[in-house]
Parts: sequence; C-alpha cells; structure tokens
Amino acid sequence: MFNKITVVGAGNVGATAAQRVAEKNLARTVVMVDVVEGVPQGKGLDQWQSAPIEGFDSRVVGTNGYDAAAGSELFIVTAGIARKPGMSRDDLVKTNAGIVGSVAREIARVAPQSIIIVVSNPLDVMCAVAMKASGFPRERVIGMAGVLDTARYRAFLAEAMSVSVEDIQAMVLGGHGDTMVPLVSYTTVSGIPVTQLLPKDQLEAIVTRTRNGGAEIVNFLKTGSAYYAPSAAAVQMAEAIVLDKKRILPCSAWLTGEYGLTDVFCGVPCKLGRQGLEQILEVTLTAAERAELHKSAQSVSDTMKVLEGNG
Ligand code: LAC
Repeated sequence: MFNKITVVGAGNVGATAAQRVAEKNLARTVVMVDVVEGVPQGKGLDQWQSAPIEGFDSRVVGTNGYDAAAGSELFIVTAGIARKPGMSRDDLVKTNAGIVGSVAREIARVAPQSIIIVVSNPLDVMCAVAMKASGFPRERVIGMAGVLDTARYRAFLAEAMSVSVEDIQAMVLGGHGDTMVPLVSYTTVSGIPVTQLLPKDQLEAIVTRTRNGGAEIVNFLKTGSAYYAPSAAAVQMAEAIVLDKKRILPCSAWLTGEYGLTDVFCGVPCKLGRQGLEQILEVTLTAAERAELHKSAQSVSDTMKVLEGNG
C-alpha cells in the first residue's frame, strides 16, 4: 500500500479512478484534486462514506489545491476536457496541453519523486507535455492507453467467441488514436493463436471496432467520453506499480530508439513496478505491424508539432 495517491481531475474518469484506487486499498490516503469548487470535496466525502460498506480503509479527500497532494508517491492525471461527438482526441490538444502542463508543474513542486500516470487526451502528446513540464525522467511518466485499447479488443474477442475474457491474451500498441495497432499475430486464447479460431474478416472487423472503441462510446453518451474502462485501465497500471508486480502491460512510453522510434511517446509493451516504467520489451513484429506502428508514432509526432507551432 502507498501512503498517498493523488488523482487530478474529479470528472467521470478521475472520480471513478479514485473510487477504484480506494476500493483496492492501494493507498492510505487518496486525494482528488479539481479546480471546480466543491466537486472534489463532495465526491471525496461521498466515496469515503462508502468505505464502511465496501470495507476499505483508504481515506478519500477532495481539494482544490495541491497542498494535500504533497508527498504523493503516485499521480493519476485525468484533468482536461473530454471529446464531444465529431471531435477527434487531437482536437483537444491546445486546451489540454495548457491544463496538463500546469498540473505537471504542480506535481513536480509538491511531489518531486512521484510517478505520473497520464490519462488526459490526446494521450501520447499529453505524456510529452507532462514529462517536459515536470522535468521527470521517462521512468516516471507513463501513459494509459494500451491497457484500455487492449481491454476493448479482448472484450470484443471474448464476445465473438463466447469465451471468458480472462482467457484472451493480447496487446494493442501504437498511439491512442485511430492508428493504434492491435497485434493480431500475438493474440491468443489460452495460448491458441486467435487466427485459428476466428475467420480473417471477423478479426478485421474487431480490429476496426477496437480502433473506434472510444468514438463508439462518445457517440452514445454525446456529452462526454468513456470512463469505466479508462479508469479501470489506469488503476490496473497503478496497482502494478504499488504492488511492484512487474506486469507487462501496453503503455505509452517515451521512446529513445526502441522499435526504431525516437523522441516520441507511443504505446509499447512495458514492465511496470515500483520504479514506474522498469523496462520496454522489444518484440518481433510483422513487417505490416511495424509499418503501422511507425505510422501511428508519426501521427503522434504530427500532433506534437501542432502544439509546438502554437508555442
Ligand atoms: C477513450 C478515451 C478516453 O478511448 O480516449 O474512450
């Protein structure tokens, strides 16, 4: 158990993440920070009052400033605006870069040794903003996207084959956008290659649905984006770090030559433990998958350039 985990943003993703962190007893204190007066306080108090029923001892507190977050070992950053129908994640870039940059500076001020899990969109670019603004090394700034995209892919596969989600092993790499790369060649059902169990056209349809998984939910909700699965994904990463589990999860990491990519955040297989990003695993990809990964990283770089151009 950590002493303190802070969730920045008390919207749907942030509040649900705080609740999941508390229910899993990952930290003695769970701080929820948001600029809107009263919302983090109210949601925090409400969650804390669920503790006697759910049986967790994490004390949840809400606040509008960063003083209560001082000394947190881990931050989950969800601050920023969410997509509306018709918007891409990249449409959020300028607004959310300002927000995530100032959040990261506050984190560096009150908890210079902490680890940051970034959830705000456009995810991979926001990771770069957070790393630059905090001055943290890449081991301590990790983006949540691959776990979510992989969960969607696994859920669709489980549904298509009518098997347990638990028996589906898979990884979705690349940026968290329309160019993400579900690795069909590494997808197995209890060790059996999925290509032996599902016809190609059905697999392709599932890959397409995975790529559009976020937009599918935005189109239903209309006023916001997904939050149950995104918060679960962020908290699975947090749990791997808190419990030093050394889990291998697809996360957005700053690449310095891995997969032939440099100076860009992109989803790759990562080992997560107490030190944060402890290792990037380089696996063999098919030529098509590697090309798709490079295309996806290029689209992240292009969005970063939009940001730099607007200084
Ligand atoms: C999604 C948003 C959170 O994929 O990026 O649902």
